[in-house]
Amino acid sequence: MRKIRFIPLIIGLFAASFFVLLGIPQQEREPDIAEARGGRVLNIYSSRHYGALEEPFVAFQEETGIEVRVSQGDPRALLERLRAEGDRTPADIFFAVDAGVMSLAAQEGLLRPVESEVLQDNIPESQRDPDNRWFALSQRVRTIMYNPDAVDASELSTYAALADEKWEGRLCMRPATHIYTVSLVSSLIYHHGYDEALEIVEGWVANNPTYINSDTRIIETVAAGGCDIGLANHYYLARLLAEDADYPVEVFWANQETTGTFYNVNAAGVTAGARNYDEAVQFLEYMSSLEGQGGDEAGFPGSNYEFPTNPEAEPNEIIGEFSAFELDLTYPLWEYGDYQEDAVRLLEEAGYGFEES
Ligand SMILES: [Fe+2]
Repeated sequence: MRKIRFIPLIIGLFAASFFVLLGIPQQEREPDIAEARGGRVLNIYSSRHYGALEEPFVAFQEETGIEVRVSQGDPRALLERLRAEGDRTPADIFFAVDAGVMSLAAQEGLLRPVESEVLQDNIPESQRDPDNRWFALSQRVRTIMYNPDAVDASELSTYAALADEKWEGRLCMRPATHIYTVSLVSSLIYHHGYDEALEIVEGWVANNPTYINSDTRIIETVAAGGCDIGLANHYYLARLLAEDADYPVEVFWANQETTGTFYNVNAAGVTAGARNYDEAVQFLEYMSSLEGQGGDEAGFPGSNYEFPTNPEAEPNEIIGEFSAFELDLTYPLWEYGDYQEDAVRLLEEAGYGFEES
């Protein structure tokens, strides 16, 4: 008898240490499936970090009566978790803030194709997996932020040009540990090949950037004159502009004369083991609709000042006022995953900072 009582304890301890190792807060680790038998429920793994139950999720819940439960974590940690759980995963929807992580999940058979006319109509081909295993629901653009007192826009052009020695001691960048840096560098490898991309990143490193592990703090440092230029996602500037319309940092859309500006997406797919398949498809369809794609707080892109992927939807007012630009559609989203490992290796080889300065 004694033995039997100990087995669950041992399993529990093993599971707990497993989640601790993955860096997933324990209270968030397991959406409760048993409880859900009465009503309709949807379990989501999400790497978005803007509050557990975001407003658009609440709006979906209210409209459909489907209860949404979210477990949050770092995108690569959540991918690890999905791999470990396989078909036994409690997650119905896998949501990542990175197309590379989504494409890896798809390639590894962790996502199920979804045949939905609604999704085909709402989401353009460039914004979804060719085999319909994930769909991008919002876009975030990683580009150059500059202090107009110190830099003239005419001095700026591409990400690669930040390797020029005139930027020595003037750059703020995110460390290599962050997926935002990895994905941006993956695009350099895609466009220039490994060796040339390495030269570019070595040029950045030679300019002795200040490494800051927060896009908000990067922009704030640019505003305060601590750096003249920073690389950050556009919505962090939008948030600051929402508080202060005269916020003293300008956005520059990199690579407009070449490939278009690098971007990433928030994309979601139905897991291979989804128990609530119909609810999951309903969720994706809702988030792709004009209602789900709204520029207001209840809209999925709008709630974080991101760009909608449904071309019929209007972006949020603040980002709608940014100057027009072209996204880099020459680097297909479904190939982002293929360059991630190389990007990490390249960052290491170039001596790029893995920690804050
Ligand atoms: Fe972010």
